[in-house]
Amino acid sequence: MLHASAVLDPASVVAPVSRRTFGSFVEHMGRCVYTGIYEPDHPAADEDGFRTDVLALTRELGVTMVRYPGGNFVSGYRWEDGIGPRDRRPRRRDLAWHSVETNQVGIDEFARWADKADVEIMYAVNLGTRGVQEALDVHEYVNHPEGTTLSDLRRANGAAKPYGITLWCLGNEMDGPWQLGHRTAHEYGLLAASTARALRSAEPGLELVVCGSSGSGMPTFGAWEATVLEHAYDLVDYVSCHAYYEELDGDLGSFLASAVDMDHFVDSIVATADSVGARLRSKKKINLSFDEWNVWYLSRFQGQEPPEGWDVAPRVIEDEYNVADAVVVGNLLISLLRHSDRVTAACQAQLVNVIAPIRTEPGGPAWRQTIFHPFAKTAALARGDVLRTRLTSPTYDTPRYGEVPVVDAIATHDAESGDVVVFAVNRDQNAPLELTVDLHLFPEQLRPAETYTLTDTDLTATNTREAPDRVVLRPNEHVSIDGPTLKAVLPRVSWTAIRLTRAGEER
Ligand code: AHR
Repeated sequence: MLHASAVLDPASVVAPVSRRTFGSFVEHMGRCVYTGIYEPDHPAADEDGFRTDVLALTRELGVTMVRYPGGNFVSGYRWEDGIGPRDRRPRRRDLAWHSVETNQVGIDEFARWADKADVEIMYAVNLGTRGVQEALDVHEYVNHPEGTTLSDLRRANGAAKPYGITLWCLGNEMDGPWQLGHRTAHEYGLLAASTARALRSAEPGLELVVCGSSGSGMPTFGAWEATVLEHAYDLVDYVSCHAYYEELDGDLGSFLASAVDMDHFVDSIVATADSVGARLRSKKKINLSFDEWNVWYLSRFQGQEPPEGWDVAPRVIEDEYNVADAVVVGNLLISLLRHSDRVTAACQAQLVNVIAPIRTEPGGPAWRQTIFHPFAKTAALARGDVLRTRLTSPTYDTPRYGEVPVVDAIATHDAESGDVVVFAVNRDQNAPLELTVDLHLFPEQLRPAETYTLTDTDLTATNTREAPDRVVLRPNEHVSIDGPTLKAVLPRVSWTAIRLTRAGEER
């Protein structure tokens, strides 16, 4: 058996766990909105047409914040199409996803849904085909209390109170040539700065996110962020990061190490932002909003012919996730937690049907994909502070990332309850691994209270409509504690969470 070890120190804290780490994303794309969160004819629909089965799964997933309404969609979106009487709303072409947008759901409906799901809204404005004025207009509609044309229109449309949206994305993936209204970093930096300045004069306390790179493989990666921040540093709070991972050419070893790339992505953009800050002699730090991340079999999508027709809510990128995908998702969450000092917001893309942890069938059931499980458990268990986790691990070679550790892990510590939670993955494809965690720096004796492992003899196993619970979390029977030493056997290709609590206070 392989061996790895970790040392935990309650005094060695990265940062508090940011609840915004557990964000998600609802884009008007494919079946995320229509027949995803909204399906008025469904037997489980509520009085507003929202699927209550999806609402229940969203709550169970532990999502805290949802980015809306896009994505590539937002760069051609007219927000005002989605307000007022439904029968008068226009049907428009959505050029990003070659489909028809009926506008039956707009910001008022989404705000109602967000309220029911108990999530914060992160709102993206269109800086593709639109600009400063339209950003100000939607802000006036959603956040201005009353007494102006647009705030009174919102009130007339049924929302007496403003929505109080704090977090705003200044466009989406403006570095990508596929984006409607794509610009150079210089052009976008100027537009983002003007939009930020205008929004701040309307409401100084907003938290604003500028577009960073849409992937670490973009030719302008790093340089884009530097130029954009040169223009907007003092006016914004966050720079966005987007990353999607997939197994390519049967290279499972590299795929399992995707978090190595995410770590590198974050470290590079933190260094870039800080170097701009240093050049500007600014004391302010720009944080990272990792507002699109997931496993996505993007190469399969890119290999497809574009659709011929223009459909409403077509089936687009409804990836079915397997066991290995879930282990990678669990590992990406470990990476996000490890960077909690600078990554203080993140959104798994997306929530329902479109590369999503939740799947639905129109008129039929909703179920949890494999990737649902590590997300839900991490969101539920990560509390208090993230601890710096010093790991000693065997390594293996990967074609994409060179030599990488077999084990990755992070821990959280809730000083109030005393709970320590260890999240770990074993990336080895053949052998189980024994992880030893040294806890001698904790003043009290700790005991395992809950253990969960996701693995399977068949790494390609998935959850489907017919077998929705084929892949679930199971208790790990091989976790023990001896004095200050925790031992856990992590099966090959697995994700594990272990909650330890003070001895005598087991809950
Ligand atoms: O999440 C799917 C798409 O991926 C989003 O619309 C876009 O921002 C990204 O390229």
